[in-house]
Amino acid sequence: MANSERTFIVIKPDGVQRNLVGEIIKCFEQKGFRLIAMKLIQASEDLLKEHYIDLKHRPFFAGLEKYMQSGPVVAMVWEGPNVTNPVDSKPGTIHGDFSIQVGRNIIHGSDSVESAEKEIGLWFQPEELVDYKNWVYE
Ligand code: GTP
Ligand code: MG
Repeated sequence: MANSERTFIVIKPDGVQRNLVGEIIKCFEQKGFRLIAMKLIQASEDLLKEHYIDLKHRPFFAGLEKYMQSGPVVAMVWEGPNVTNPVDSKPGTIHGDFSIQVGRNIIHGSDSVESAEKEIGLWFQPEELVDYKNWVYE
């Protein structure tokens, strides 16, 4: 597929608690993106420290870790043209539609192809990324 990219998406604990998992998945499906991997997990402290390594000296870091461990998250990999571009992809809209606080903002999406590759490697084992063909009718 032309310009096909993969992005790492995580529905944060507030997204799960607010029953927005289906709504968020629906946005990606409707846009035509392809689901490559998905799991519901309780994120470990080590994983979050690595994921948010650039923010470790920020004053809100401890609160961010606590928030991200306050319940399970849904980690996903989606594929499609320009899927990491926040202008074209749905995460920006999801923030706008469902969230009013930066500290409780429902979803994370990778901001570049490079960060997506890093984050996918962090959150998923290679065998969890499923390789399959698309078909609709027999
Ligand atoms: P992500 O897609 O989550 O990476 O969002 P971002 O790139 O817009 O934000 P950034 O990487 O700077 O921060 C990562 C996460 O830290 C955000 O999504 C918020 O959950 C949290 N965060 C960032 N800034 C603040 C802040 O000022 N206060 C609080 N409480 N949380 C913050
Ligand atoms: Mg970020």
